Amino acid sequence: MQLRVVTDQPWDVAADVLVIPIIGEPSFDGALGELDRRAGGELRALAEFKELKAKRYTSALAPGGELPASWLLTVSAGETAKVDREVAVRVAATAERRLAGRVVRSMAVWVSPLIDAEGFDGDIATAAELVARGVVEGSYDPKAIYRPEIESAPPRLDELIIVVPGGDSTAAKAGAERGVIIGEGANTARTLANRSANDLYPEVMAEEARAIAERHGLWIDVIDEKRATELGMGMFMAVGRGSSNPPRMIVMRSGGEGERDKRDRHVAFVGKGVCFDSGGISIKPSDRMEEMKMDKAGACTVIAAIETVARLAPGTPMLAVAPMVENMPGPHSTRPGDIVTALNGKKVDITNTDAEGRLILGDAMTYAERLGATHLVDVATLTGAVARALGHLVTGAFGEPQDWYDDLVAAAGRAGERYWQLPLIDDYVQDMESWYADLQNSGSADGSLVKSGLFLREFVTVPWVHLDIAGTGYYRKAQPFGARGATGASHATLVELALAGAA
Ligand code: BES
Ligand code: MN
Ligand code: ZN
Repeated sequence: MQLRVVTDQPWDVAADVLVIPIIGEPSFDGALGELDRRAGGELRALAEFKELKAKRYTSALAPGGELPASWLLTVSAGETAKVDREVAVRVAATAERRLAGRVVRSMAVWVSPLIDAEGFDGDIATAAELVARGVVEGSYDPKAIYRPEIESAPPRLDELIIVVPGGDSTAAKAGAERGVIIGEGANTARTLANRSANDLYPEVMAEEARAIAERHGLWIDVIDEKRATELGMGMFMAVGRGSSNPPRMIVMRSGGEGERDKRDRHVAFVGKGVCFDSGGISIKPSDRMEEMKMDKAGACTVIAAIETVARLAPGTPMLAVAPMVENMPGPHSTRPGDIVTALNGKKVDITNTDAEGRLILGDAMTYAERLGATHLVDVATLTGAVARALGHLVTGAFGEPQDWYDDLVAAAGRAGERYWQLPLIDDYVQDMESWYADLQNSGSADGSLVKSGLFLREFVTVPWVHLDIAGTGYYRKAQPFGARGATGASHATLVELALAGAA
């Protein structure tokens, strides 16, 4: 897809489709009125016929009339005070998705209404970045993974035109290029996460990671079951041993061993990579069990994030660690009540084999620290509870100390992603005590979300944030701005967080 920035007025731009963000209730006094007049009143007619609604992410198509653009596509962004970066991405994604099944070669997006909205805090480059990222993310359709020829997918554009009348086109172009790369990274994470468990198992993920590492000159180490056992990764192996597809701990690095970034950090992103979570011996009910092929979304996100950072700022010091397993019942599986020794030496009583994510993440975080990580972020589809509490539009997060959590939230603000902080209540730690071991992996149901965070904290000695993407990591049904399936949630936040330390 070619990128072009034009500083002409939207009514002078030739394209197959011109996308017009509508802020609040459409008002035809300003530039929108001028555009409407030159289009022969098409937009006003839509509004009068109640086809042009103010509701966020609704859209309407109209012919371009006398304009050089063949079609006009309005996408509503909602109240002006609430148009933030996330909305900018999603308006663009909605536009691209609205055109699914059609042949569209060139799409122009009039960016100014977004920049001028009260709630938007970015400049032209930022807006161009978010719009380009949104178009790329909106073009994603998992239907195409196993059926590349499918025709109902969003159009493959030859050209995306960013329309910023009177703006700085060099800055906008640079922003849009950055946005395309971040959007492509999210889509990489989504394809890996959406792939089925018979197609993508730990060894296959390791091959995919190797290919990414080779493309970008990243260091990679893949720890197999033999080495993991020798190293003492008892929690990781407890989960991994139950499947005939052996586990793999994928470790990727950009920059040198233990090298500090500009902020004096060696950041490590650790992602939960459960290629299929049947629950193991504590087996899950069959209802929606097929979704558990997406239990590797965290791992896919961290691997995509290190690739994106490598593309945008090669050599930025950071680690990505992805413990990959299949959680299966079988003659070799861990039994409830089995006691294992974690890599950090703690004895763990596995009371529920379905609380497997925290086991593999615990050992992966210990290992990241051994490799010199000074700051950790783990990303995981960890609990059903977070999805019940917060739904699919905001990621639950834990972290200590607060200033590292705040750094993540600042990165999220730049990325346009939403998080809600959950508390680490020390007093609940006692509910996870075990008669036989230092702790058990699953306590009573009350406060189980908080306890999932507390369990992970036992395996960390440096600043750490835990992102639970069980609600946001994939959609059960399609949204106007996003396909059903994996979303790539938190990819952009991780990228911004790492880039804060780039030279
Ligand atoms: N992978 C699941 C969490 C999950 C559930 C993600 C639904 C996405 C949608 C995780 O491994 C799990 O089974 N968690 C248990 C924890 C419990 C056994 C303490 C849960 O949430 O019920
Ligand atoms: Mn589970
Ligand atoms: Zn799981």
